[in-house]
Amino acid sequence: MTGTTPRGVSGEQAAARWVRGMFGRIAGHYDLLNHLLSFNLDRRWRARTVDRVAEILERPNARVLDLCCGTGDVLLALEDRSKSAALGSDFCHPMLVEARRKIAAKRYRSTLFEADALALPLAGESLDLIAIAFGFRNLANYGDGLREMLRVLKPEGTVAILEFSQPTNRVFGSLYGFFCARVLPWIGGLISGSREAYSYLPESIGKFPGPELLAQQMREAGFRKVEFERMTGGAVALHLGRK
Ligand SMILES: C[S@@+](CC[C@H](N)C(=O)[O-])C[C@H]1O[C@@H](n2cnc3c(N)ncnc32)[C@H](O)[C@@H]1O
Repeated sequence: MTGTTPRGVSGEQAAARWVRGMFGRIAGHYDLLNHLLSFNLDRRWRARTVDRVAEILERPNARVLDLCCGTGDVLLALEDRSKSAALGSDFCHPMLVEARRKIAAKRYRSTLFEADALALPLAGESLDLIAIAFGFRNLANYGDGLREMLRVLKPEGTVAILEFSQPTNRVFGSLYGFFCARVLPWIGGLISGSREAYSYLPESIGKFPGPELLAQQMREAGFRKVEFERMTGGAVALHLGRK
């Protein structure tokens, strides 16, 4: 389990550059395609993630980060439920521009900053919660990503990793596989103009380790109380862990 390996790209730096460039090209269509291609289930997956960490959000002065926040949907959901403003970070500027627009439209107070998830400009032991939705799979090095999260979390701090996975039921798995391999690149390419982005999506999902392996990796990195739940027949999994 190392990190993302986009087709035809070798080395961690090149992979990170490729990922940043690809999200930059689809930023303007990202939300529409997310909702469309997930049949709006993405809203439920994010809502469930926020529900699972609600106890932290209700604490006064909780320091919360939406890591790889993209266009900010989790960030907005966190601020909806939180007593204080949240932080959002991403290394793709066009995605942050979209997030900024949505935060301003809601008159929310969340703060955004541009940074690589593997080298966050945050003090050690400064956060109570990190939520990362559909970002972890794209990191160039998963172990380094987990270690950086551990560094910035306070003792007892929580990480919530929401990520795509593989359905457990064979029939549903075949349908899902067909949808991901054939339908998704076609519709995604048509609307966003970037077929490579929506070919990368199913490829990266297919290569991403299953929930048990990710849970093991989290434990090996040093997280405790690691647990996961599958959603939508296993198409998505939410992992929680404590520092
Ligand atoms: C699939 S999007 C998810 C966005 C958002 N969290 C959501 O739920 O829709 C993945 C995001 O991760 C960001 N990302 C990937 N690797 C990153 C890294 N190393 N550092 C910071 N952001 C990264 C991308 O720029 C992109 O915005």
